[in-house]
Amino acid sequence: MSLEKRRALVRLANQFDVLILEDGPYRFLRYEGTTLPPVKVFDTEGRVVFLGSMSKILSPSLRLGWLIADPEIMAGIEALKGAADVESSALIQRAVSQYLSRVDFPAHLAQLRKTYRQKRDVMLDALHCHLPADFTITDPQGGFFLWLQGPKGLDMTALQREVLLPAHVSVVAGRNLSPAHSMVSGARLTFAAPAIGDIEPGVQRLAAALSQGARQVQAR
Ligand SMILES: Cc1ncc(COP(=O)(O)O)c(C=O)c1O
Repeated sequence: MSLEKRRALVRLANQFDVLILEDGPYRFLRYEGTTLPPVKVFDTEGRVVFLGSMSKILSPSLRLGWLIADPEIMAGIEALKGAADVESSALIQRAVSQYLSRVDFPAHLAQLRKTYRQKRDVMLDALHCHLPADFTITDPQGGFFLWLQGPKGLDMTALQREVLLPAHVSVVAGRNLSPAHSMVSGARLTFAAPAIGDIEPGVQRLAAALSQGARQVQAR
């Protein structure tokens, strides 16, 4: 989101009196381009809540994050959190605190960015090489994911069920990622989880399954 859009979003939120939850767990994982200030920076009326997580930069399943919010909103969130699960694990909080005080975290983040950038590049190269012509992909500057867009009319959820899963390929079908269940012909792919050496064979298998799926759909 461009700087101007970030500012405009806050202006609109002020105008229509709504809160913004800025979900920023990938903020430290930018591989190129310019890091822009969070939307929270442009908050003039205490209506933006910024959310971060240790899940993507230290370890998943810690279930530990942080938020930056206006004191009044924070008090409400604390009450809701207390009602939901009393509090985040004190043991995990202490362990993470110890870790942060002992390691060079900026160096750790730099290493993460290097590793994930390499994985992203391997996945992009493999997709450019193997994908059927009627599929496109995005070229993300950060984060864990890229977007695979299939031809109009393709039902990625059905394709996943009928062709991809039997071929041992799993993607997150777009239908699951939009509140209105739109984006049906796309899918989210991650380059973060697989070992770097598994990415190209995985993409080859995905591309073969997509080609086979397209043939099956045409044959109907
Ligand atoms: C955009 C986004 N926000 C929040 C989270 C949740 O992170 P946590 O594991 O800290 O609950 C995730 C994790 O997948 C995410 O992708």
